[in-house]
Amino acid sequence: MQRLAIHHHKIQISQCRQISLLLLVSTCIIVTWLSALPAQAANTGKWATLLTPGISAMHMATTRFNKVIVFDRTDFGPSQMRLPNGRCRDNPNDLALKRDCYAHSYEYDVSSNRARPLMVLTDTWCSSGAFVANGTLLQTGGFNDGATAIRYFQPCVGATCDWLETGHLSAARWYASNQILPDNRVIVVGGQRAFSYEFLPKKTSAETAIPLGFLTKTHTPNIENNLYPFIHLSSDGNLFIFGNKQSILLNYKTNRVVKTFPDLPSGPRNYPSSGSSVMLPLRHTDGFKIVEVMICGGSPDEAFNSAGMGVYMDALNDCGRMVITDAKPKWVMEKMPAPRVMGDMLLLPTGDVLIINGAEQGTAGWGAAKKPARAPFLYSLGRPAGRRFVVFAASDIPRMYHSTANVLADGRVLVGGSNTNVGYVFEGVEFPTELRLEAFSPYYRHAGYSAWRPSIRRMSTTEVKYGGRFVVKFTVATPPAPAELLFNMYAPPFTTHSYSMNQRMLFLAFSFSTAQLRNASSATSYEAVVSAPPSSVAAPSGFYMLRVVNRGVPSSATWIRIS
Ligand SMILES: *[C@@H]1O[C@H](CO)[C@@H](O)[C@H](O)[C@H]1NC(C)=O
Ligand SMILES: *[C@@H]1O[C@H](CO)[C@@H](O)[C@H](O)[C@H]1NC(C)=O
Repeated sequence: MQRLAIHHHKIQISQCRQISLLLLVSTCIIVTWLSALPAQAANTGKWATLLTPGISAMHMATTRFNKVIVFDRTDFGPSQMRLPNGRCRDNPNDLALKRDCYAHSYEYDVSSNRARPLMVLTDTWCSSGAFVANGTLLQTGGFNDGATAIRYFQPCVGATCDWLETGHLSAARWYASNQILPDNRVIVVGGQRAFSYEFLPKKTSAETAIPLGFLTKTHTPNIENNLYPFIHLSSDGNLFIFGNKQSILLNYKTNRVVKTFPDLPSGPRNYPSSGSSVMLPLRHTDGFKIVEVMICGGSPDEAFNSAGMGVYMDALNDCGRMVITDAKPKWVMEKMPAPRVMGDMLLLPTGDVLIINGAEQGTAGWGAAKKPARAPFLYSLGRPAGRRFVVFAASDIPRMYHSTANVLADGRVLVGGSNTNVGYVFEGVEFPTELRLEAFSPYYRHAGYSAWRPSIRRMSTTEVKYGGRFVVKFTVATPPAPAELLFNMYAPPFTTHSYSMNQRMLFLAFSFSTAQLRNASSATSYEAVVSAPPSSVAAPSGFYMLRVVNRGVPSSATWIRIS
């Protein structure tokens, strides 16, 4: 906490001097006032409770209309949100209610802070998903009658869109992971006792699942620890796949393992020893070629069985970073400020990593964890080793098993879920089922940074072509310099069970012209010519959040589509 405060303070002072030299006295006064802000208020973020929809948020994905699709499982009986207009779902296969008049999914509208009930048809318990090129959420698998389901949610501006189901997976997939590919298909990998992968949409109905020995090898009987495998699309078009402690680079077109990486030390990282994984932002400076993966937290091999006997082991307290495109890749380990299992790793609009939700003891599973990890960690990529972690302000709400989080266009982090009970239980347990949605506002949202915060005003186009250029016009109160500006695009992930599938950020090349649109009656305007990424390997087609970051303070995002 302290370190970050000092860091920002220094930037503010030096900025002030520089600006004084330019004799912009009024700006200097604003900046001096900034440096006088109380350090904690400015830097450790703020929590706010938003809404209490009647469904616990096990899965979450933010659409290009800034509405968040949220859903739980369907097979446990009534939620606290009814389907609209007296509708009910008649399903002879449902494990609890054959006639279920309750919703198990909703669409959360960020701008109006309202939730609209949706009707999901089969059991979505521990399922997976990915946005495809046209912005539709393709969502697969689950439990019971949902194990082979293929669901679509095509987002809409109004209130008419809902879940559709059509077709079936080649294998039952419970706890699988999805990744969008450069050819616009989605690969679905793994699942409980599903040691294979498959592609959607299928080219022919004869296409079947392809066995993957890595999943068999990394599966530990009774505990597994390789479910929800971590998948990242690398810059050579191959897939990095991580399960348990091991990882490979897979050429999915030929079903060949092209590289086997060293084991990640200290313990397993996948469900139920749920750590989390991100691919760090790709950068134009190396042609988006250097790919680095970071995995944090998890729990020891014995944690699941131990929790079953009432002993909650300490979670893993380290992270590994590996440049997977290196000739001789190796894990570089770093300690977190505290242990954490079931943490969600999200790329903040600044490109830094946020680790949020989870617990300090135990593992994923019903009633299998203790000691909620209420305070998010910031991991700053630009700072020296040993000084990268900052502990942010803690929430009052435990976010244990089946909690989730998503970065919103305005830079807040939406947090929901936590249900470590088999059904909805609100009393008489240490961790009641949690229905509240919260938002965490990281330090950069503080009003004290408003003089540096850019706003995107206009774009030459929001339909961007590979290798193309587009103009972004933005305003910011104090003059920026090219060295303090960044432009990034962010693919909205599908988040469940501590893993944000398809999360991807790219820092883009740009050229910057100062004050071309100076407008005396408002904040000063600027424009930059931004270069789109070169190919669908760097950035698969689809909708991305585009942002300007000035002196570490990000704008709200504008959605762009790349194709
Ligand atoms: C979007 O893509 C999905 C998957 O390919 C397809 O099923 C759906 O029909 C498409 N939607 C539109 C509106 O084209
Ligand atoms: C200048 O700013 C004012 C106030 O925000 C706005 O109404 C006007 O449209 C702006 N002019 C231009 C040319 O951007």
